[in-house]
Amino acid sequence: MTDPAHGPAPGAATDPETLRERVLSTLTTARDRTTLLTSCVEEPDLTAQHSPLMSPLVWDLAHIGNQEELWLLRAVGGREAMRPEIDSLYDAFEHPRAERPSLPLLPPDEARKYAAEVRGRVIDLLESTAFHGAHGTRPAHDAHGTRLTEAGFAFGMIAQHEQQHDETMLITHQLRRGPRALTAPDPEPTPPFTGPSEVLVPGGPFTMGTSTEPWALDNERPAHVRDIPAFWIDTTPVTNGAYLAFVEDGGYDDPRWWAPDGWTHIRAHGITAPLFWRRDGGQWLRRRFGVTEAAPPEEPVLHVSWYEADAYARWAGRRLPTEAEWEKAARHDPARDRSTRYPWGDADPGPEHANLGQRHLRPAPAGSYPAGESPLGVRQLIGDVWEWTASDFLPYPGFTAFPYKEYSEVFFGPEYKVLRGGSFAVDPVACRGTFRNWDYPVRRQIFSGFRTARPARAEDA
Ligand code: AVJ
Ligand code: FE
Repeated sequence: MTDPAHGPAPGAATDPETLRERVLSTLTTARDRTTLLTSCVEEPDLTAQHSPLMSPLVWDLAHIGNQEELWLLRAVGGREAMRPEIDSLYDAFEHPRAERPSLPLLPPDEARKYAAEVRGRVIDLLESTAFHGAHGTRPAHDAHGTRLTEAGFAFGMIAQHEQQHDETMLITHQLRRGPRALTAPDPEPTPPFTGPSEVLVPGGPFTMGTSTEPWALDNERPAHVRDIPAFWIDTTPVTNGAYLAFVEDGGYDDPRWWAPDGWTHIRAHGITAPLFWRRDGGQWLRRRFGVTEAAPPEEPVLHVSWYEADAYARWAGRRLPTEAEWEKAARHDPARDRSTRYPWGDADPGPEHANLGQRHLRPAPAGSYPAGESPLGVRQLIGDVWEWTASDFLPYPGFTAFPYKEYSEVFFGPEYKVLRGGSFAVDPVACRGTFRNWDYPVRRQIFSGFRTARPARAEDA
């Protein structure tokens, strides 16, 4: 299926040399970040499990190398396994996170050496890979035919995979107890946002998902039309200040606001505020990468579960946007009646558009990044905080698993809720207007926030 409202993605490199350079720089950016995240703490902190929700950092490191070996050296390159005995250790489906610390994992130095050796061979492979779709020749050993290397897909997938684990590792750093190990400059100060608090998105069809974005993953495909009734959506993510009003109003003590399972969960676990928040006399403090500080009122709220987001929305007389509403707000350009790659258009994300890539270790104040706003003026859809949506993680019509069922297909169903837009911890390569993330509705160690929506009334249109 072709994307009816979309030409070729500008991000698509056409000649093989440009594509090779793009692949190399994307893989290098990811590895630099991985190296930073696994060298800023001592060895015991790499092998320890800082939370049962997370792997030891040294598991992520070797898993990154192992996936790269599996998909690039073996599937694309047709090479033999380098260390067949370690495959099962780093298979996420064989060993749930909680049991990973008890496995005979490669120690940090060996894990580093293994990942580096894989990478060296990948760079050699890249030199000899003919990118089908770019210039016509089929690689000899591409087990999936041409699709795996078309427009460099497998390389892009692996760069995204490493960056996804870099976000996972940053979550582990946030959960880790002890002094600060990571630093980054704060976002540029921004004038207080004075625009409207919500924006009306007119009703009508738009194109959701993509069939043309070269490195889009299977769950983002194919492009298809959705007809969405008019709705209002918050101009910015919900802030700490706004969320605090819900807390202070007794929001956590009132079952009226909570989905029944959410109520049971917060009562059973004594949850009374976002994760990492602590009340200290008259104010709320939060712990952020080893430092305890006041929760800044203008900053988007972080570390809330889907249940908390849903309860806040109900308390505010609103609801979470559906996934389709979120994507329409983020991608539909009413003037041109087409979907763009990002809220600001088709250009790749730059630092002026969004808070991405762990440049900062916190969200920017609500109303930041005017250059990144949507045509209707919705801000910070990309970057800052992952945004919970009302929707379950389900396949689009015409979905086909590629290149493996365990990336998306095994997770489809009502147990997972969709998050959109990426956080400050997500690299641009792993963030698009079509990108879909998912998690259990109780999870909040992730860099999750939200914005709210409400249906339009007849007189709005
Ligand atoms: C898309 C973030 C849910 O971390 O479980 C990493 C990404 N998949 N390795 C996850 C992923 C395989 C995935 N999420
Ligand atoms: Fe993985």
